[in-house]
Amino acid sequence: MCGIVGILGSKPVANDLVEALRRLEYRGYDSAGIATVQAGQLARRRAEGKLTNLANRLSDEPLGGLSGIGHTRWATHGKPTEDNAHPHMNDHVSVVHNGIIENFGELRDELIEAGHTFQSETDTETIVHLVTHYMNTGLQPEEAVKAALGRLKGAFALGIIFANHDDLMIAARQGSPLAIGHGDGEMYLGSDAIALAPFTTALTYLGEGDWAAITRNETRIYNREGERVERPKVTSVASALTIDKGNHRHFMHKEIHEQPEVISHTLTNYIDMANHQVDFPELGLDLAAIDRVTLSACGTAYYAGLVAKYWIERYARLPVQIDVASEMRYREAPLPANGLAVFISQSGETADTLATLRYCRDQGQTIASIVNVRTSTIARESDAILPTLAGPEIGVASTKAFTCQLAALACLTLALARARNTISKEEEREIIAALTEVPRHIATMLRSEPHYTDIAYELSKAKDVLYLGRGINFPLAMEGALKLKEISYIHAEGYAAGELKHGPIALIDEKMPVVVVAPKDALFEKTISNMQEVAARGGQMILISDASPDEAGCPLMQHIQTPQAHPFVMPLIQAVPVQLLAYHTAVQMGTDVDQPRNLAKSVTVE
Ligand code: AGP
Repeated sequence: MCGIVGILGSKPVANDLVEALRRLEYRGYDSAGIATVQAGQLARRRAEGKLTNLANRLSDEPLGGLSGIGHTRWATHGKPTEDNAHPHMNDHVSVVHNGIIENFGELRDELIEAGHTFQSETDTETIVHLVTHYMNTGLQPEEAVKAALGRLKGAFALGIIFANHDDLMIAARQGSPLAIGHGDGEMYLGSDAIALAPFTTALTYLGEGDWAAITRNETRIYNREGERVERPKVTSVASALTIDKGNHRHFMHKEIHEQPEVISHTLTNYIDMANHQVDFPELGLDLAAIDRVTLSACGTAYYAGLVAKYWIERYARLPVQIDVASEMRYREAPLPANGLAVFISQSGETADTLATLRYCRDQGQTIASIVNVRTSTIARESDAILPTLAGPEIGVASTKAFTCQLAALACLTLALARARNTISKEEEREIIAALTEVPRHIATMLRSEPHYTDIAYELSKAKDVLYLGRGINFPLAMEGALKLKEISYIHAEGYAAGELKHGPIALIDEKMPVVVVAPKDALFEKTISNMQEVAARGGQMILISDASPDEAGCPLMQHIQTPQAHPFVMPLIQAVPVQLLAYHTAVQMGTDVDQPRNLAKSVTVE
């Protein structure tokens, strides 16, 4: 999950490389660097930490050159130090890499044996010496790269430049996304459309296993077998506008507040408001023929899928199998003939989710994906795309993408239910009416945001926090725990409330805050008894509910009032309080809310 860029420019490229990297920092920010061909020689600047450190380095020690590559890193092999920062290079070749070379150890030993000297602990540096090795045998750069690619195992997106070749950039893609950008007398390379948006929207996405030799006037693309291929030129939808925080302190805060608007956009993309029904005309799937749904995703997207499992089983009467993608990809699960496999991913590039998609496709499933990036790899490998219209989500902690995923999954549920006649017209109309009120309910809750500062103060003192939920609220409890731990670094765990007495209740004492996600639904009373068990042991509870505080029947540390709404839509509503709890606690803790330690926005490695 690093970001790579490359430019064959008509003017010095250093500043444009840094600008492109700034738009890729969400993919990793442990270190950054650029390399250019300057008077025929390779030159490089790198810096540990955020991109601003590299920009400062460049203002002290400028770099010339009309062609170059750049990289922002999320460390996989080797600590996030300057020595391990990309680009890696020697006097002949410079490389930037996103992915993991799985056989780098044996290649490194072979190259050291052949006299090559390594400066870093990274797998990437192996590529520098391997290409050099083949050039030393007399091969030209393109042929040397082709030979080297044949030796690499694993996932990679590569950008490569060469000394004495300032009109050549070689790109290669296996498992990690990579796009070529077409400019006016200039050419570009980037991990995604957002990086290239300031320069061009005319893109060519490399296919799986493709590599390309790029010059300012020509791009030659080859497939894994070495045959020359053509790939379509598409127009990217990424905004060329710089994505900024507006008057918000963090991207995450801005994105939480964008939810009323983007949920509306997503719902109206699927709901025929005039006839109060869901329509998927371009889906091209016979929903009535589906007899089993498989859902797979990672992290927050997985929790959206868990909510959908409750919806689809309850309303469309369809059995749903769901698993985190990192498990499902290896389970070799038997799948039925007429199965629909749905993959949920904000980035559309998560490696585990993509691998599971490919497994399900090989098992003959119809593939649908719910993605926030329509041009992503997962989208391009699906039979049908159900886009979320959340807009670019920059904060590493997913918020608006999550609720837009829920909105799309809610519409998919209703479409399946109607196709299978398991829901009446009246019930569909009732639920659709409730869905269309969700943006207003969220806007109302956002107005009571100041209340969260006091609650966050209480949570920020905790070492551990337990989140509880029953039924469809259980995934929300897990999502709330993930939000808190990933941005505040406080350990938190989401648990099915009914499981409390089977062990976790041993954790309860007055130092353990317990967040209970419990709207007044059919399981509310049962959750209240769990709360009384917690209260009896001195547990400090925060109740998130449309019920009033005194309906809890036990003392509460805090109560977060949510609006009353149809049970179907409560997950979309309850998502906002758990997001705000995590956000304000992280602000109290002083952590880096938008770029938490050790994380990256898009996990494109296993
Ligand atoms: C969400 O807050 C996390 N940052 C993470 O769990 C994320 O949801 C997960 O990595 C999946 O990403 P995707 O939606 O881009 O596939």
